[in-house]
Amino acid sequence: MQTDGRDHEALIADLVKRERISDETARLIFSPAFDEFRARLYEAADKVRLETVGDEVFIRGIIEFSNYCGCQCDYCGISSHNRELDRYRMDFDDILETASHAYGLGFRSLVLQSGEDRSYRASDICHIIEAIKGRLGMAVTLSIGEWPKADYAAFRAAGADRYLLRIETSSQALFERYHRDSKWYDRHKALMDLKELGYQVGSGILVGLPGQDGPGLLRDLEYLERLRPEMVGIGPFIPHPKTPLGNQPAGLIEHCLTFLALLRLYLPDSYLPATTAMGTLAPQGRQMALRAGANVIMPNVSPLSNRPGYQIYPDKIGQSDDAETCQRCIEDLVLALGRKPNLGFGHIKRKIY
Ligand code: 5AD
Repeated sequence: MQTDGRDHEALIADLVKRERISDETARLIFSPAFDEFRARLYEAADKVRLETVGDEVFIRGIIEFSNYCGCQCDYCGISSHNRELDRYRMDFDDILETASHAYGLGFRSLVLQSGEDRSYRASDICHIIEAIKGRLGMAVTLSIGEWPKADYAAFRAAGADRYLLRIETSSQALFERYHRDSKWYDRHKALMDLKELGYQVGSGILVGLPGQDGPGLLRDLEYLERLRPEMVGIGPFIPHPKTPLGNQPAGLIEHCLTFLALLRLYLPDSYLPATTAMGTLAPQGRQMALRAGANVIMPNVSPLSNRPGYQIYPDKIGQSDDAETCQRCIEDLVLALGRKPNLGFGHIKRKIY
């Protein structure tokens, strides 16, 4: 593969062919020297997106049902480090009411997300899943962190379809620097468990964590290629003032879009969200993501009263938009790009293995 940085067209052609990327090339791709060629890379990824997953954009409603968290992640605004945060937790009835409201708006795919709130027992989570599946028949994605394999099995038996758990970084050293209370291998093992249990698995990374470099991002891409998750969600690191990484610079939107485009090229049939963090970092961030390989978007359908408490990073967009407004603005955003919004189950067409 071209590595001297002179013939960028040839380099992009190699990326489209999924040639192995060298560390030197990764350094180039994630350096300012590549900036004038990024648009070409995004365009190539957009073409592959059209050929593999088509023009639909899958819309999933997120319910952030608790911001209690037992973890101490150095970048995260709802980590238990943050003692100034008002904590909330929705009970069964609140969650079901929110899910029914989303159903009424046309959503058929829900993501239930929370901090690692250990006050819910596995049976409580199962009860919620069973009610949403049984009464509303919606597709259910969980995003509730690391649990024992037996609990993942119980959630799956209760009807959960998908599970989102980012590896955050494929580097054990970087992971354990920023998660002093947890181990990289446990995160990896949890992903293996989820795959084995037949979930559609979503993973992903943070782009721009202090200490990350081009070759590190290449290792992340290689890790994700091996894991072959059905979905990959990535976002820029955004410093939160109430966290140990509060004074560090944010990740760059162009590095996020570049990593997203590479994901589309190297995992061509995966589902890739245009994440809220990208929209927060850059005003057109989600639109840019949808034109650089993304095909999923996840508006917030949580009750408005929860929003201030779920600032994983500051200035998160959509704070004052209720579910209906979020839905409308997301559908308009998708239509304005000439794409087709799809509120359905959004199951990936690939065979799960
Ligand atoms: N900036 C961007 N993303 C963050 N996340 C947590 N904290 C931040 C931050 N400061 C992401 C993590 C986690 C997801 C739910 O939110 O990647 O997996």
